[in-house]
Amino acid sequence: MSLFNVSRLLGKTVLITGASSGIGAATALLFAKAGSNVILVARRADALKSVADACVAAHKESGVTQGGKFATIQADVADKEQVASILDKIPSDLRAVDVLVNNAGQVFVKGIEHIGDIADIDVEGMFATNVLGLIRLTQIFVKEFKARNSGHVINLGSVAGREAYAGGGIYCATKFAVSAFNGSLLKELVNTPIRVTEIQPGMVETEFSIVRFRGDTDRAKTVYDGMQPLVASDIAEEILWVASRPPHVNIAEMLIFPVNQAGAGVVYRAPK
Ligand SMILES: NC(=O)c1ccc[n+]([C@@H]2O[C@H](COP(=O)([O-])OP(=O)(O)OC[C@H]3O[C@@H](n4cnc5c(N)ncnc54)[C@H](OP(=O)(O)O)[C@@H]3O)[C@@H](O)[C@H]2O)c1
Repeated sequence: MSLFNVSRLLGKTVLITGASSGIGAATALLFAKAGSNVILVARRADALKSVADACVAAHKESGVTQGGKFATIQADVADKEQVASILDKIPSDLRAVDVLVNNAGQVFVKGIEHIGDIADIDVEGMFATNVLGLIRLTQIFVKEFKARNSGHVINLGSVAGREAYAGGGIYCATKFAVSAFNGSLLKELVNTPIRVTEIQPGMVETEFSIVRFRGDTDRAKTVYDGMQPLVASDIAEEILWVASRPPHVNIAEMLIFPVNQAGAGVVYRAPK
């Protein structure tokens, strides 16, 4: 953090979806430390409050005087009406959002679910959150950004949006959709100062795998057997770096692996 200049983030307002855990929570904390204001969005109100409290403490500890305003919005990005009302729920002093981080996302597999056996409710849930929620929020904020002629959309894609793998039929399809949407947006905004970024993490140890295996923490742990995964703050640091580049620089795409990963399913694991 100290090696790159985050002073451009002082007093900026950042809205992060999926800010109640993992990458979103870690990103909120780093923006708080960098002197930004943060609006945290997710479904779990208690978890959001804990992250917001940690942001207040991190901002205080940083000694930075700018920023330090935090708001939480309990919302399900898969719900059309709840997304439509997000703008109205932002406190008036934080209405001018500078950076939108579309991070909320989920994956479900009950076992080795291959195409043909995937529950329709899971297909709908993943698309509604990972794709439709992201698209609807982006539509709202791009309109705002265009009106103000500034802004930055940062979308959380994945290596799963570059390479499909067996067992990832729906999740990969959602992340390919995010990547395509990101690419169109990037091109549509080429004649503006508005920036568009897709962050594509490889394996990051968060609640993600626990959600994926529906609360089976032992199974979630096996995903990282014999290798060191990334942690949420590794990705948060890259998001901060991307957001703090000079205004004429746009990091369009960033693929981030742990050192022993080289692709979807290409992982070196130390023998036991
Ligand atoms: N972990 C990885 O290996 C990895 C790799 C590549 C990409 N990613 C991407 O990184 C992003 C963050 O994942 P993570 O690893 O940090 O997972 P995580 O710890 O499970 O966090 C996911 C966040 O999204 C929120 N969320 C999920 N569904 C939501 C909904 N319908 N409405 C609002 N919020 C919702 C969750 O909060 P609530 O439950 O409180 O709503 C939580 O805050 C995702 O887009 C994921 O696809 C992760």
